[in-house]
This record gives sequence, structure tokens and C-alpha cells, in this order.
Amino acid sequence: MSQKRFYITTPIYYVNASPHLGHAYTSILCDAARRFYEQMGYETFFLTGTDEHGENIWRVAAEQGRSEKELVDEVSANFRLLWPPLYVGHDDFIRTSERRHTEVVRAILEDLHEKGDIYKADYEGVYCVQCERFYTEKELDAARPGLCPTHETALSRIQETNYFFRMSRYQDWLREKIESDPEFINPPQFANEVLAILRDPLGDLCISRPKARLPWGIAFPFDPDYVVYVWFDALVNYVSALGYPGGVLFQKFWPAANHVIAKDILRPHAVYWPTMLKAMGIPVYQRLHVHGWWQSDGKKMSKTLGNVVRPDAMAEKYGADALRYFVLREMVMGSDGDFTERALIRRYNSDLANDLGNLINRVTAMIHQFAGGRIPAPGPQEATDGELLEAFESARRALPPLVERLRLSEAIEAIMNAVRATNRYVDRNAPWELAKKRNAQRLAMVLHTAARAAVSAAGLLWPVMPAKCDEALACLGADPAHLDGPARWRGEGLAVGAEIPEGVSLFPRRDPGEAAAAAAKAKAAPAAAPFEPAAQAAPDAKPIIEYHDFAKLDLRVATIVKAEKHPKADRLLRLVVDLGGEQRQVIAGLAEHFRPEDLTGCQAVVVANLAPRALRGLESRGMILAAHDATGLVLIGPLGKAAPGSPVT
Ligand code: MSP
Repeated sequence: MSQKRFYITTPIYYVNASPHLGHAYTSILCDAARRFYEQMGYETFFLTGTDEHGENIWRVAAEQGRSEKELVDEVSANFRLLWPPLYVGHDDFIRTSERRHTEVVRAILEDLHEKGDIYKADYEGVYCVQCERFYTEKELDAARPGLCPTHETALSRIQETNYFFRMSRYQDWLREKIESDPEFINPPQFANEVLAILRDPLGDLCISRPKARLPWGIAFPFDPDYVVYVWFDALVNYVSALGYPGGVLFQKFWPAANHVIAKDILRPHAVYWPTMLKAMGIPVYQRLHVHGWWQSDGKKMSKTLGNVVRPDAMAEKYGADALRYFVLREMVMGSDGDFTERALIRRYNSDLANDLGNLINRVTAMIHQFAGGRIPAPGPQEATDGELLEAFESARRALPPLVERLRLSEAIEAIMNAVRATNRYVDRNAPWELAKKRNAQRLAMVLHTAARAAVSAAGLLWPVMPAKCDEALACLGADPAHLDGPARWRGEGLAVGAEIPEGVSLFPRRDPGEAAAAAAKAKAAPAAAPFEPAAQAAPDAKPIIEYHDFAKLDLRVATIVKAEKHPKADRLLRLVVDLGGEQRQVIAGLAEHFRPEDLTGCQAVVVANLAPRALRGLESRGMILAAHDATGLVLIGPLGKAAPGSPVT
């Protein structure tokens, strides 16, 4: 491709259950890949969203006695609000219930109908409601033909008239495409799996559901008695979000599409979607990347099995950067991974606390001890300095082919090898000995080279841990605001003479006993439902922080203009606060201590830049500060009146 463009997508997630670590992994993987591509000088676009039609969603809404719209709005918001605290920075979030999407689906159906690629026929087959698909006899387990091979639940026999997409017409083309383009499906074992499917006649795809059986979906443009099959509807999101067919984004980013999925949805992405694109007469996407499953207790993480891990809780406990590092380092592309807090803590202590954190800590400490706290100027280069810089060059060279195949675990390992080489460089060149010998010129060069290597490491790891690496760059005197993507990649930005903070501890060691304690606690008490407030940490458990940590808080005086009970949670109040020219909704755990009417008109200090989150279905943007003593809660506010929005400094 002549222009360097990269379009990356997650699957659009079903909104019949709240997000878990499996969903978060795919999104984190896409986010990190896009940041790496930006560093490699590509113009990028990152899409995610929610899949809001289909039988499952209709059923869950009915079970909960709610309208479909209410359910999809709430769960879609849970997904959308999860991403900022995990530093997942998508460019667009598409919902299949949006008009910009439904109109494109209908236009495509009209087009394929006119071309003769859609026809109506009678059909009889066995159907799994959870998979939302018919199964052919060949796909069923011969020993248990009445059961769904994925869910092991009873299949229903259905006989009805439906619309079909003439998928079989494109079978030979698809086989040739996969055989002639080894990069099309990554990693290759999944290409082989698809080729095995294509060895048998493909048949056509049933793409409608009678409205009488399923009223929730996009109505067929040429037959209002039918709604569109959820998979046909959902796959179109990848082009409807770009404004297909005439949109500027579509012109720009198609076909540079890289779809990322887990292996459970290989067939729709590797068979239905390319044949649909071929029938639509547009080029097929560039690549399909397939990863394995996160398991917990040896089984695929899923709500039905009750073994889900909450990504928001893990990020709160260990930090989003550490969580991102762990999942990206731990899962090898294409294989399954097992999530345990014990493994997370082990990886955190060995890679982040011991290798990276220790490097930044000792480099900043030595620059204070031996160079007056300022980045020293370089001196004449010796072989050992060159070798260290070459270790980073070699990591940089290794990255593009790994990143292109989303093999981020190996990419991270290549960078961490250079980090470990830097620690060895410091040990070998022993600045403390050079100081004793008063070899000032060599001492300055060793400290300079170690700091340069640390800046390179933070620049290269930035796609994986954006916030911690920005902090590291700031601590090393490199101003992140002045580093564009490719400059970070080259590890530029070390400013000679810059004053740096002392004793930086970015990744304090975690107690390995925490994991056992967490496991015991989880056994004793069932986990809170997703998006409920997490338990409060003990007041004495907090580490000492630096001024720059404190300075990140945007504390402001707010006037509470409205207070009422949360409709779904007894302990929560819904507040509307005035921040001087801006009104916000804040959900606060104050209901056991205050009557709503007593709070109206009061002033309190608010953490105004806390990432938004959903608390029992309502978005909270900020946190009210209060003191807790034996008698209950006291709001923290100004002693007299202050103008709403006044900063607290
Ligand atoms: N709505 C469809 C996708 C339509 S895309 C046009 C769907 N949704 S889903 O909510 O079930 O999400 C499936 C995706 O979530 C997987 O492909 C994967 O990306 C992610 N994961 C869900 N559970 C997972 C694990 N246990 N492990 C890893 N990823 C998982 O299918």
C-alpha cells in the first residue's frame, strides 16, 4: 500500500451482558497495535462498538421485563465507559441500532437483491438460539446430534421461509484468496481451519428471521415481515462506521482494515464477511487477526460459567498500565491464556518492579547523587555504550514484523531484553566506582547513556503502558508533549541539563501474598456485579506520592444544585453539581448519611477529572470528597462560600 494507512477494529460486543476481561483484552490489543502503528508513521483509525440486535438481546430484555432499547442503552454505555480508564482510545464507537448503520444495511440488501445474490426459499434445519445460527448435519457431533456443539444445549428444529445470501457463489474465489495470500488470516493455523471448512460445499447463508418469531432487528427493505439476521447486520458495521459507500473515511481507510477477533467468531469473519464484500463489489479487508481465549479456572471466561474477571476492578487494583502489560505480554497470539492474579503479580514484580521500575529508579537516583539532579551531557563513546544503543536499535528493527502480526507478546519481550541489557550496563559500568575514582567525564557519559536508554524503553513501551511511560518520560526530563509518534519510537527527547525528580518509584513491588488473599476473599464473598462501586481500601494502605502525582488531581468547589435517590441503588444518591458554567451528574455513596433535601445548596470539593464510570446504570462524572469518622460522613467543602468551579490548590 503506497499511503501508510491502518484501520483496526474490535468485534462489536453483544449487549446482553456486561464486559469482562475477554472483551477488554481484544480492545487493549487493538489500542496497543494502533499506537505502535502510529509510531511507525501510519495514519490510523480505530473502531469499536456494540452489537444490539438478535434473539439473545431480545430474550434477555424480555426476561428482565424491560424494553430492548432500555437494555441496549444501558449495557452499551457500560462498554463505552469501560474504555477510557483502560486507556483504550478508539476514534469511533458504533451501535448497530443507530440510523447511520441500519440505513447502510438496508441499502446493501437492496443492492444484493437486485444483483440476484439474495433469494427467498423454504428451509428446515436445526437451530441454536445462543449461537443464533442454523447448524448443518456435518457440523454436529455425531454422538450427540441434538445438542449444540458450542453450548451443549438442545437444538430446535425449525421449518420456515427465509431469505438467503448466495454465499456458495463465492466459495472458489474465497479459497483462492486464502491460498494465495498467506497474510490474510493470521496466525496461519486459522487459515487452515477455514480452508478445511471450504473443502465441503459451503451452501448459502440464511440472512432473515420472520418478524413473527423475532420482532427485534432491522426490517428488510423489500419485505417488512422479516428482520435481518444479526450476523449479516453486525458485520456491516466495519464499513457503515466509515460512511460506506461515499464517506471520506471509507475512501481513506478501506481496504486497509485489520479485523481483530477471538477464535469463537472465525467463521462469520473469514467466510460470511469476505463473501459479502465480494458480492458488494468492494475489495476484501486486508487482514483478519485471530486470538485465543482468556480462561479462568481452566475454562473459557464467560458470564454463563460465572468465571468472569472484571477488568475495571483489576485496573483499579493494579493500575490500567500494569493490567495492559500483563495481558499483552502473557497471551501469545493464537493461543489461549489463563488469568490469575498470582500470575499478574508475578509478572508485575519481575518485569515492571524489578526490571523497568528499578532501572528508572536507579537512573534518576544516580543522576541526583552524582550529577546534581540534571541530565548530564554525553562524552566520548566507548564500545560498551555503543553496544547498549545497538540493543535498542535491534529491538526497534524486530518490532514492525511482530506488530504487523499482532505478536505483541514477543514485541514486548524484545523491548524488555533491551531494558535488562541497560540494567546490566549500569552494573558493569558502576557509576558509583567512577565517582569514587573522580572520573567525571566517563561518569557523565554512563549516566547520559543509561538515561537515553531508559527514555528509549519508555518510548517503545508507550503503546503498551501509555500513562506510566508518559510519567517515566517526564521523570527522565523528556517532555512527552513534544514527542510525536515516530520520535517516541526512536527514543528521542532526552534533554541535556533538564532537572529531574528524585527517587522515582513507578512500579512499587506488590506483595505476592495479595493474590492468595484475593482468592480467599473471592471465595468468601461473591464478586460485586460489574460497575458497582469497588470496596474502599483501608485508609492506612496508601503509598507516599510525589507532588506530580498530587498535581494531577483537578479539585474544585462544587455547589450541589439537585439531589435525589438513585432509582436502582439504596446507598447511592444522584447529584447534579454546578462547577461554574458547567453542570454535571455525580453518583455518590451518600444515601445512608444524608437526606437528598439536606444536600441541595451545599458546597463540597469534587475530584473533577476522575474518569467517568457507570454506577448501577447512571454515569458519574466526578467524586464528592467527604470525611469518614465514627459518627458517619461529613462533606469536605470551603469554610465560607466560594464561587462554584473555584480550583482547590
Ligand atoms: N457480537 C458478536 C461480534 C460481532 S462482530 C461483527 C460477538 N460479540 S461478543 O460480545 O460475544 O464478543 C466476542 C468477542 O469478545 C470475541 O471475539 C473476543 O474478541 C472477545 N471475547 C469474549 N470472551 C473472550 C474470552 N474469554 N477471551 C478472549 N476474548 C474474548 O461475538
